Amino acid sequence: MEKPIKKIAVMTSGGDSPGMNAAIRSVVRTCAYLEIECVGIYRGYQGMIEGDFAPMDARSVNNIINKGGTILKSARCLEFKTPEGRKTAYDQLRKAGIEGFVVIGGDGSFRGATIFNKEYGFPVIGIPGTIDNDITGTRYTLGFDTALNTVVEAIDKIRDTASSHNRLFFVEVMGRDVGHIALNAGVGAGAEEILIPEENLGLERLLESLKRSKKSGKSSSIVVVAEGDKTGKNVFELKQYVEEHLPIYDVRVSVLGHMQRGGTPSAFDRVLASRMGVRAVEALLEGKTNLMVGIIDNEIVLTPIEEAIKGHTSIDRELIRVSDIMTV
Ligand code: F6P
Repeated sequence: MEKPIKKIAVMTSGGDSPGMNAAIRSVVRTCAYLEIECVGIYRGYQGMIEGDFAPMDARSVNNIINKGGTILKSARCLEFKTPEGRKTAYDQLRKAGIEGFVVIGGDGSFRGATIFNKEYGFPVIGIPGTIDNDITGTRYTLGFDTALNTVVEAIDKIRDTASSHNRLFFVEVMGRDVGHIALNAGVGAGAEEILIPEENLGLERLLESLKRSKKSGKSSSIVVVAEGDKTGKNVFELKQYVEEHLPIYDVRVSVLGHMQRGGTPSAFDRVLASRMGVRAVEALLEGKTNLMVGIIDNEIVLTPIEEAIKGHTSIDRELIRVSDIMTV
């Protein structure tokens, strides 16, 4: 039977996340299995505009399942936000005979994909790849699990110094708009307090909590702060505030930064990436478009990209309760 699509492309876009390579591998191998051509687009939408393409076969993704980052490189591309940029991208795809693409990325990448799909009717399927876990239509995004484990491991190490020197540490973790990493890592690493953008604790409550913790006999403390938290202007201001109001504390700050995005993907992220890649290619061949692959209740599901990027994912309130109980 004649295949509806004979050549598809795969690319990574936006911030890299562990598991992206495993997803590229899955897309490429599924194409090989189904005997359709696959093309890698380098540097996300920037590479699409510039026609930076390379054919990929089953062997071109050998030995990457365990690698962090993305072999296709990634970029945030302003030009694709313009109609002219998207027109050039469309012309490049047509010239290369590409009939659909899989984009692995976060909400910014999906926004571009859905606009492109509307303008040109070009088949697109998204795979959520971001450590922030801030995309609806999936319980987990690729890289979140690995990043969580990285953060917990880092906090375990910081705890050694905190307890040896009786110190209070503010540990800043990623999460520009959401607190999923902070909340989960905070519970997993046994933090005293977790500050997230979704809940403004307020400086007063933070002080009260730290006072209580001292009184209860704790000699050291870890406070996990999501990058986007609004309690203070930033972690350094929090440090200053606590030092001024609770001089009993010897305070330090540790900003974990981009180390959270790197490293070997966890088993969970590799399996998830493999499952998502297969479904993405199958969906394109079924004539589906403008959808994102996700996982809900351990089932691989498809959600309209527009819905996936609409709102913010809500924070797990049960985890907040668990954290409160644990810090008695
Ligand atoms: O990948 C998402 C994210 O980790 C955000 O939490 C963070 O604010 C952002 O990336 C920073 O990325 P970059 O330095 O690449 O702009």
